[in-house]
Amino acid sequence: MAVTRTFSIIKPDATRRNLTGAITKMLEEAGLRVVASKRIQMTQEQAEGFYAVHKERPFFNDLVSFMISGPVVVQVLEGEDAVKANRDVMGATNPADAAEGTIRKTFAESIEANSAHGSDSEENAAIEIAYFFKPEEIVG
Ligand code: CMP
Repeated sequence: MAVTRTFSIIKPDATRRNLTGAITKMLEEAGLRVVASKRIQMTQEQAEGFYAVHKERPFFNDLVSFMISGPVVVQVLEGEDAVKANRDVMGATNPADAAEGTIRKTFAESIEANSAHGSDSEENAAIEIAYFFKPEEIVG
């Protein structure tokens, strides 16, 4: 399996509880390397654009409000089959369904305040990385 990249967000519920380091440690222990990272306050326009695929979903407005309710940490992660490695360590979207030892089981408060986002495919990873990072900001 090749070394690939994925995109991660440590969400406002987690930054609010000072969990950036704890979550990053779990990502690193899952074999992922942080090759870019920045703490940002997303604008409404940025959040709406990032989640545009969900804009017809009933939870879209709440999701956007939540994602701009505090700072987030956007990261590019690199490792063997990075998309899968990240999704495995994050656990299911709904923490009630997430496996023991995953980020969401350990830290998430709800399906909305679920502490972390990870790309669902390599194609979307490339799109999401380019949404927040310039190539020169990623140092492998
Ligand atoms: P994320 O991986 O960031 O992608 C979309 C987000 O929508 C998801 O994580 C959840 O936090 C959020 N969300 C809120 N409500 C729902 C829902 N009912 N089903 C799926 N995702 C939801």
